[in-house]
Amino acid sequence: MNRGNSTDISFAAGLLQNGKLVAIPTETVYGLAANALNADAVLNIFEAKNRPHFDPLIVHVGSIQQAQQLTRHISPEAQKLMEVFWPGPLTIVLAKKDIIPHIVTSGMDTVGLRMPSHPLTLELLAQLEFPLAAPSANPFGYISPTSAAHVAEQLGDHIPYILDGGECIVGVESTIIDCTSIVPRILRLGGLSVEAIEEAIGPVEINAISTSSPQAPGMLHSHYAPRKQLLLGNIHDLLHDHGPDVSILSFRDSYHNYRNIRLSESGDLHEAARNLFSAMRKLDADHHASIIAEFVPDYGLGRAINDRLKRAAYKG
Ligand code: TXA
Ligand code: MG
Repeated sequence: MNRGNSTDISFAAGLLQNGKLVAIPTETVYGLAANALNADAVLNIFEAKNRPHFDPLIVHVGSIQQAQQLTRHISPEAQKLMEVFWPGPLTIVLAKKDIIPHIVTSGMDTVGLRMPSHPLTLELLAQLEFPLAAPSANPFGYISPTSAAHVAEQLGDHIPYILDGGECIVGVESTIIDCTSIVPRILRLGGLSVEAIEEAIGPVEINAISTSSPQAPGMLHSHYAPRKQLLLGNIHDLLHDHGPDVSILSFRDSYHNYRNIRLSESGDLHEAARNLFSAMRKLDADHHASIIAEFVPDYGLGRAINDRLKRAAYKG
């Protein structure tokens, strides 16, 4: 395989045209992509990720026009969201056409669509005649990858090619909004804030509370999780109860006598989101027994960060 040049879009396109998998960069996290209209190709994704079949995949498109070809109805709110926020970290759930195989949507009648903003992947989509089904490129349940190296470490042996687009600039997965209901409903908090969405289309419902129900797979309690125990709360209290064999994931404060990663020294939630998953991976890989972490302010991207921290801490 051509592993020398890791930004060869034509090579990636060739593999995808032959039903093979390619890891692709997006602004949120890396995805593990296959031709969304080819059920056999999509099956490879589930196998490589060890992903349960009840968990539907997001379909990545290169244009709003391509989204129209895949869906039966686009509500005015959905149309507005596409115009304002695409390409970007927003997945919109709509009624699907039959052309999308059932395996992509876990048998559901709806499909989650997103136009990602990473230039390499937009160029790749422009070269292809089909959209790309792609979940995050991590083993099921583990922390999502925000660099090509993260993908290579865990799935390198299972994928023919990783398109290297550098580090993801958003760092948490897309926000998912269901536009098939009368009032649009947020299903997953993510890289686009609820505030920004409401400014564009008015009030939305938020139904992103974690469950262990397979109907809401991306919302499993335990997800995005390190292997070690992650304890969430007030850092001083946690240090008192669990120290000293811990590493600390803090928002802004530093803890000099400990292994410590701060998400954002200046308290910037975008920077914190960008650093979150790589920080969790680094602390998961060190020799300390557990990770202790604190919530960040609960607005804007802070809501998505807190959601991921809760899932990482959850032990079912
Ligand atoms: O940022 C992202 O969204 C990344 C990049 C690669 O685009 N992708 C991603 O995919 O996070 P994944 O598979 O890790 O999470 C997709 C989640 C599913 O777990 C499911 O909860 C939701 O999207 N989903 C997909 N299709 C859906 C549908 N038709 N209805 C409801 N939820 C859906
Ligand atoms: Mg995922």
